[in-house]
Amino acid sequence: MKAIVVTDEAAGTAGMMLAKRPQPEAAGNDVLVEVHASGFTPGELTWPSTWTDRLGRDRTPSIPGHELAGVVSALGYGTTGLSVGQRVFGLTDWTRDGTLAEYAAVEARNLAPLPGDVDFTVGASLPISGLTAWQGLFEHGRVQAGQSVLVHGAAGGVGSIVTQLAREAGAYVIGTGRAADRQTALDFGAQEFVDLENDALEDAGGVDLVFDVIGGDIGRRSAGLVRAGGTLVTIAGPPEARPADGRAVDFVVEADRAQLKEIVQRVRDGRLRTVIGNVATLEDAVAAFNPTERVKGKTIIRVRP
Ligand SMILES: NC(=O)c1ccc[n+]([C@@H]2O[C@H](COP(=O)([O-])OP(=O)(O)OC[C@H]3O[C@@H](n4cnc5c(N)ncnc54)[C@H](OP(=O)(O)O)[C@@H]3O)[C@@H](O)[C@H]2O)c1
Repeated sequence: MKAIVVTDEAAGTAGMMLAKRPQPEAAGNDVLVEVHASGFTPGELTWPSTWTDRLGRDRTPSIPGHELAGVVSALGYGTTGLSVGQRVFGLTDWTRDGTLAEYAAVEARNLAPLPGDVDFTVGASLPISGLTAWQGLFEHGRVQAGQSVLVHGAAGGVGSIVTQLAREAGAYVIGTGRAADRQTALDFGAQEFVDLENDALEDAGGVDLVFDVIGGDIGRRSAGLVRAGGTLVTIAGPPEARPADGRAVDFVVEADRAQLKEIVQRVRDGRLRTVIGNVATLEDAVAAFNPTERVKGKTIIRVRP
């Protein structure tokens, strides 16, 4: 099969290559998925799981990309819950070959049915940002109606979904980002916006929950924005500062079928939308992941037209 592979960690996205790889086989409890659309996060190329398996053994050439939408083409031994021919989408194991390929073998429990009225391109854009937003807000942040939530990067992939879900949950949402992102964040439902380039972040303090996707200096200053008993949730690595009287949680997104179903239902009925920036073919994927100009929104690879 055709796949994008990486062999050299130092080369980054410039080291991605289109290659021929053996079609994977569905192991126990897996499904084999005919990939229609695939999502990739550039940060993957810095994660150990891209280069080694769970025992730390070299697994290159590795196929990156861990979001997919496609059709089940075979079941592994003992696999239940999904059937051949079913449309599916989801987040695949970080330590196995990924989704920038014509086929991917995935544990069935990591996938959810993709309704027939949701395009594969949209399906592949949902798993990481959707699950990260859901888990950060509801599991780790325990958001409640009436609470205030400050969402960093509210115009970005994760932040825009956090903003929409938090509003739907009845929270008061303050979005942040660059000056140019103000209208986008407000369009996603933020009720206020803090321009991190020009406004004083500290003026927005006293919130129940901060959802940080940026880290660094913004992450350090965010701890002080949390009211007593509130929570700082971060996806940008271990927090360098913690709220004086509150919780700090950092986490890595996990696959979850029930949450994927909740997310895709919201896309179907118009409560949730993702930002898709560029759609390219597998043949053009390397160029798409090495753009000469900044692309806003997620790049999705349409593996089958
Ligand atoms: N832990 C996990 O499980 C997990 C899961 C998903 C994502 N992540 C990580 O979370 C981060 C965000 O992911 P994403 O998909 O939401 O990225 P994204 O789409 O690029 O969104 C980030 C947003 O924050 C803005 N931003 C970044 N730095 C800023 C700064 N210093 N000042 C003002 N605005 C700033 C960006 O603006 P510009 O585009 O203009 O820079 C963008 O609008 C990434 O590092 C990703 O790897 C972690």
